[in-house]
Amino acid sequence: MNRLLSRGARLGRSLYARIALGYLISLLLLSVAAAWIAISQFNQLGRELQQRQELNLADNLAKVMQPALQQGADSAAAHDTARHIASINPSLALYVLDERGRVVADYAEPSCGQAQQVSTQALETLLSEEPMLPVLAVSPCGGEPGVFSVARIAYGDTGDPGYLYADLTNASHASMFAMLRTSSITRTLMAAGLMALLVCGLFGLVWFALLTRRFTRLTTAVQRLAGGDYSQRIEAPSDDELGRLARAFNDMAGTIEAQLAAMRETDRQRRELIANLTHDFRTPLTSLRGYAEQLLAAPQCSADERRQALDAILDNADRLTRLAQQLSTLARLDAYDKPLQREYFSLPELAYDIAGKFQNQARQAGVTLNVACDPELPWVDADLGLIDRVLSNLIDNALHATPAGGWVRLDAEAQDEGVRLSVVDNGVGIAAEELPVITQRFYRTRESIAKGEGSGLGLSIVREICERHGTGMEIDSRRGEGTRVSLVLPFA
Ligand SMILES: Nc1ncnc2c1ncn2[C@@H]1O[C@H](COP(=O)(O)OP(=O)(O)OP(=O)(O)O)[C@@H](O)[C@H]1O
Ligand SMILES: [Mg+2]
Repeated sequence: MNRLLSRGARLGRSLYARIALGYLISLLLLSVAAAWIAISQFNQLGRELQQRQELNLADNLAKVMQPALQQGADSAAAHDTARHIASINPSLALYVLDERGRVVADYAEPSCGQAQQVSTQALETLLSEEPMLPVLAVSPCGGEPGVFSVARIAYGDTGDPGYLYADLTNASHASMFAMLRTSSITRTLMAAGLMALLVCGLFGLVWFALLTRRFTRLTTAVQRLAGGDYSQRIEAPSDDELGRLARAFNDMAGTIEAQLAAMRETDRQRRELIANLTHDFRTPLTSLRGYAEQLLAAPQCSADERRQALDAILDNADRLTRLAQQLSTLARLDAYDKPLQREYFSLPELAYDIAGKFQNQARQAGVTLNVACDPELPWVDADLGLIDRVLSNLIDNALHATPAGGWVRLDAEAQDEGVRLSVVDNGVGIAAEELPVITQRFYRTRESIAKGEGSGLGLSIVREICERHGTGMEIDSRRGEGTRVSLVLPFA
């Protein structure tokens, strides 16, 4: 019972109840207005018909009364004749008016105590040719203006001009009420009106229920979304305002869901990154510690053994330094709000500079490292620090992938859209099936894993730097033949 009551109270407060109530009230007011207009028009029509029918009544009565009127308007003979007429038609009230409309004789039963003047303008209008009916006048008895019939007469022995005024108000009222009560037209009209009212009312209620049901669907979807169900969508939204709202809701829910998925993915990558880094730091650190302990444990070891241990220590320290460098670049790239520090610089100058830094490593690996570019190339517009990292990562990769006797070359050439920079080698190359995934974070080729080299971050960093510069990175490689990695930087 309580639940029923609270549901009822909720419905009462609902938008549907308010719209329905407003609609029903306006429908009711409209019906009352329409009924009022119809009744008053009927009334008018009744009076017009009455007057039209009785237009010659006063004329005919004047002919009947003429002999009596000659004896005087207020004569006993005139009253007798008028009484005789009233006995035939009791709803009639007869008066004789002088030419200014003042009552000279009052034959009405009961007679009006204070007989008034009737407007001669109304009398003359009705007597004119083709008058616009109904012509109304306030009868000598006063009250509301009503219909009448009038005829010009002469009364008294001097033949004074005047009017015979027949008041039809009572007769028209009686016929009007009779018509309303008994006419089949009024009954049909009333039945049709009531039916129309009922149909419009029901149609409106159903229509509003359908419209507000869409609101309810939308509200439910929003509530579910707020509750954490981001897969909520509104099916088949229409083209109207509500449909547009539903579409906007769907778009919003889609964006939230996509952003949430992206956040989850970023979170997963971060956790994976930490797990991988822990491993990448632990391996060289364990190795470092091992060689250091070996040196401590055997202070009398040979110069060769000492040198080997120190080389291994330096190698691992280098590996840790490179890892730290890669991480610092990654951190900078991940901070999206930090803008690029763009500047104009000469690419050949940078290329010679970096190649110089790698010459020693190349010599040790027995690989020839060359730079092939025109020193007069136009300058480029890019983040110098990040492009330095790109070149270092690419040359490092090429040197690792090229066996002794091979070569690595740094090319730069001007093209329509900017300067194309390439690092080319004739090393082991990358297998075709590995090319699509080679730039993923922590991806390393099978050989690289076998040799225990690298961390798999270098190429992913290069790709991200290229993306931040709005340029793509192309890798062209064939197994056993070599690799070319290139990118285009815009002119300064
Ligand atoms: N020019 C190349 N020829 C053949 N293999 C390559 C070449 N460049 C990269 N690779 C291989 O692609 C994989 C991904 O390279 P990436 O530079 O991302 O990582 P890494 O070199 O292993 O580690 P890091 O550069 O972070 O020290 C590595 O296994 C690497 O051996
Ligand atoms: Mg690398």
